[in-house]
Amino acid sequence: MQILTTKQALQAAVSECQQAGKTIGLVPTMGALHEGHATLVRRAVKENDVCIVSVFVNPTQFNNQEDLKKYPRNLERDAELLRSIGAAYVFAPTPEEMYSAEEMNTTFQFDFAGLDQVMEGKMRPGHFNGVVQVVSRLFYLTKPRRAYFGEKDFQQLAIIHHMVERSSMAGSFGDLEIVDCPIVRETSGLALSSRNERLSAQERETALAISRTLFASLEWSKSQTVKEVQQRVIDTINAVPGLEVEYYEIVDQSSLLPTDRFDHAIGCVTVYCGPVRLIDNIKYA
Ligand code: PAF
Repeated sequence: MQILTTKQALQAAVSECQQAGKTIGLVPTMGALHEGHATLVRRAVKENDVCIVSVFVNPTQFNNQEDLKKYPRNLERDAELLRSIGAAYVFAPTPEEMYSAEEMNTTFQFDFAGLDQVMEGKMRPGHFNGVVQVVSRLFYLTKPRRAYFGEKDFQQLAIIHHMVERSSMAGSFGDLEIVDCPIVRETSGLALSSRNERLSAQERETALAISRTLFASLEWSKSQTVKEVQQRVIDTINAVPGLEVEYYEIVDQSSLLPTDRFDHAIGCVTVYCGPVRLIDNIKYA
């Protein structure tokens, strides 16, 4: 496995793969890797000739500088894990390598067709502009046949699908396929997240109420309306000392717009557990 830190070195490696007729699977990450990422990488290794993993804490998608500063970083440990599961290349650039000063300081513009106006987009203005900026750049640089993303960030995944569908009309990303990968949970139910590293032992215990409530809501949805279930989830989580719901929206899985039917619906939650902002979701049908 090779660790590449420049776009030039990455592009040379990609050209070599292309000349040898090898397919590339890309797993974009911000590092602090856990079993959720490992699942994506194992799949990418299996389904492609070469697996490239990017490890880059993308500054342009953070609208909270404190969150950016505190985001866990550990390239050495990440590289060790990636080597053990068969990644061929790790791309770990600095922000200066990825962006010019101008790019760093201006908001990347993209037509999200409204997908960024709800939930995470509403709470974190500019967040998805930064995500699309970095992901599209990674696609241009690595020319993957497949790219792997986790469903925990469901809205991110919907936006990336939208970006690729729009760009593929112009042929930008060739025959790129976006592979949706289910949420990986601890046996306790807690959705794996790099942010879990910031939870104390007590907070980790408290956070279990989030997935427990989401799973209970599957049962509630059999006898209650969408509005009733939405409110019950919010009230149940808020009743736990140490948890505070930022939003719980039950939306259509494609449009991400609020729906009054459970058919093709997904419930997306963001909860503060102490100072740590956690997200999770559950599909109703
Ligand atoms: O999901 C993430 O970790 C990030 O948003 C991504 C897709 C790697 C882009 O920085």
